[in-house]
Amino acid sequence: MIRFINVVKKYSDLVALKNINLEISDGEIFGLVGPSGAGKSTLLRTINKLEEVDDGQILVDTINVCELNGKNLANYRQKVAMIFQHFALLNTQNVYKNIALPLEARHFKKKEIKEKVLKLAEITGISDKLDSLPTTLSGGQCQRVAIARALALDPKILLCDEATSALDPNTTIQILDILKKINKELKITIVIVTHQMEVVKYICDRVAVINKGEILEIGKTEDIFLYKNKALETLVDEKPIVPTNGKNIKLIFPKKSASESLITKMARDLNIDFDIVWGKLEKFGDDVLGSLVINVKDKDFINVLTYINKTDVKYELIKGDNKDDISR
Ligand SMILES: Nc1ncnc2c1ncn2[C@@H]1O[C@H](COP(=O)(O)OP(=O)(O)OP(=O)(O)O)[C@@H](O)[C@H]1O
Ligand SMILES: [Mg+2]
Repeated sequence: MIRFINVVKKYSDLVALKNINLEISDGEIFGLVGPSGAGKSTLLRTINKLEEVDDGQILVDTINVCELNGKNLANYRQKVAMIFQHFALLNTQNVYKNIALPLEARHFKKKEIKEKVLKLAEITGISDKLDSLPTTLSGGQCQRVAIARALALDPKILLCDEATSALDPNTTIQILDILKKINKELKITIVIVTHQMEVVKYICDRVAVINKGEILEIGKTEDIFLYKNKALETLVDEKPIVPTNGKNIKLIFPKKSASESLITKMARDLNIDFDIVWGKLEKFGDDVLGSLVINVKDKDFINVLTYINKTDVKYELIKGDNKDDISR
């Protein structure tokens, strides 16, 4: 468990983190999103004390991170690995040496190092490049090496700062699949800073939206994207364009199949017509969830709401480009 309690971080006059309270559970893949300058990297880097905080506490299990220094800090950092957008590999050393680096620095035996490097290279799919120099590898291959190196000392937590931002979409998916695998198989808690919403939807169990050093929302990824997405509106520009006449109701379905049966049944039961004016299906992890905006005539509005209220489908009323308060 990683716990932030009233954490404040300042850079002279600038308050980069304002009273952050947040808990990340063991085994979670947790996302931090927000616009540039929001404080995402700063928050991430307080977890391994690359940034010191000015107030508050950070607890990782029973360890008070803010109080660590010297040998205790070095020991702690072995358990909290980090990967970056630009990989931070040693370009004069081959892949084998890059992965072996943390083990050599801690004087592991040659045989142990070899076993470990081969195993990590296999997990990250880079076994065929062990003799290559990083300068001869693609971005995706470099990130595989960086992940293998990050795992060398069996960390409990992996911090990722824009780890896929320099990669193309296909390579991004491959790297995210590796992260998913190590989260599951090696039981590593992963904290991901990203500005890529696809990354969050693909991999994160929960997400916090940060802006100007404050957490605006925390929740399960699908809830943040499907329901209470006000904080995300500045980041994701995808407001439905809807008619100005009648009433527009955005229905949010737990599963794709549920949407089709509800709307056909509702039209039949209420004997009304309505238009489907906007719709979207999205993949969150392994689930496909959907939202649909229907436009109903004013005279049918109350009947439709009463009908929807009897189901487990959530809704929001959408009024032009503003959202009304009516929702559940
Ligand atoms: N070492 C530093 N000295 C002074 N100000 C800093 C320092 N590091 C970050 N800041 C400031 O703190 C704020 C938060 O920065 P941070 O790097 O955490 O943002 P971010 O959300 O990671 O942004 P980006 O998406 O652009 O990486 C910004 O206003 C930034 O300019
Ligand atoms: Mg950053």
